[in-house]
Amino acid sequence: MNKSKLHESAEQQRRNAWDTYWEGTKQASTYKGGETESHILMQKWNVIFTSIANQHTHMLDIASGYGILASLAYKSLEPRNTSITCVDISKSALEAIEKKVPHVNTKVCDAAQLPFDDASFTLITSQFGVEYAGMDAFREAGRVLQPGGLIAFVSHLTDGGIHKECNANRAAVEDFIRTDFLNLTHNLLETKMTPGFSQLDIKTRMECLKPAIEATVDIVKKYGRNVAGGSIDKVFMDAAKISRSSENFDKTEVLSWLRKMESELIAYSERMRSMCEASLDQTDIQHIKNILLENNIHVNTVEKLPFVEGGENCAWLITAQRGSSG
Ligand SMILES: C[S@@+](CC[C@H](N)C(=O)[O-])C[C@H]1O[C@@H](n2cnc3c(N)ncnc32)[C@H](O)[C@@H]1O
Repeated sequence: MNKSKLHESAEQQRRNAWDTYWEGTKQASTYKGGETESHILMQKWNVIFTSIANQHTHMLDIASGYGILASLAYKSLEPRNTSITCVDISKSALEAIEKKVPHVNTKVCDAAQLPFDDASFTLITSQFGVEYAGMDAFREAGRVLQPGGLIAFVSHLTDGGIHKECNANRAAVEDFIRTDFLNLTHNLLETKMTPGFSQLDIKTRMECLKPAIEATVDIVKKYGRNVAGGSIDKVFMDAAKISRSSENFDKTEVLSWLRKMESELIAYSERMRSMCEASLDQTDIQHIKNILLENNIHVNTVEKLPFVEGGENCAWLITAQRGSSG
């Protein structure tokens, strides 16, 4: 991690990591996808939205990302009776939702500090989101829910399938960053792509890079080529290809690509780390129940769900309702 990163607050780093991610998915850079799509989860959400389809709904979706739930709610609920508000720490994510979901309200904010009055919403949802902001976010969700209103959260499950995968992705990328492969490749190519370079300089830079190459090969062997969405393997292969025929590439483009890859991978590992830290175990669930109860909100169901049919459990589904007397 470079020096300026170390001086940023943890909060700012998290915000940047998500913003880089959502910006990156827009530009289809190192990462694939950008939305969390699961047939099983979508079915659950369909049941929830269908159960209130005829009611007046003021929905708040917390940590909306690209708006997968907002889109589904827009299709499932009667638009004339419905208002949809999305909050997220990432401005880039919310800009994408505004283009996708008609009449949506958006607000960039930390879910632990919602800028809304008490009892503003009849339905509060979140899919792999509210837990990123810690227990205060559950308290805030309770505060802004109207009497009689519903909560439905799908949250990361500690030691579940997604948690394990994120942990391996994080470890692999952190190991890769530690090899300094990108920086050392940058030094090599900068020299190699400068007219009149000396062979001795190239040899020295190659010697410096060699241990990083070996370490990267070991990382790919240990975690598999597909770890971190295949990004380590891809950047490694691409760098090797450029190095073999550097005369066919533009120096400025290559060097800025290497810097970009480094910052994207740092952001990626931050994102994986925050996913792991956000996951909830049984003790957290009890804590959340108690927090919600402070606002007269009673948990109706707590269920573990897999992401795909027959797969390992990866999420909690928590549904709750606020008593009608407030
Ligand atoms: C795994 S994504 C889920 C996005 C979306 N709900 C979905 O199901 O596709 C987590 C989202 O939480 C947002 N986020 C992370 N920390 C947050 C915080 N403290 N407050 C609000 N949003 C946050 C991220 O920007 C990201 O969009």
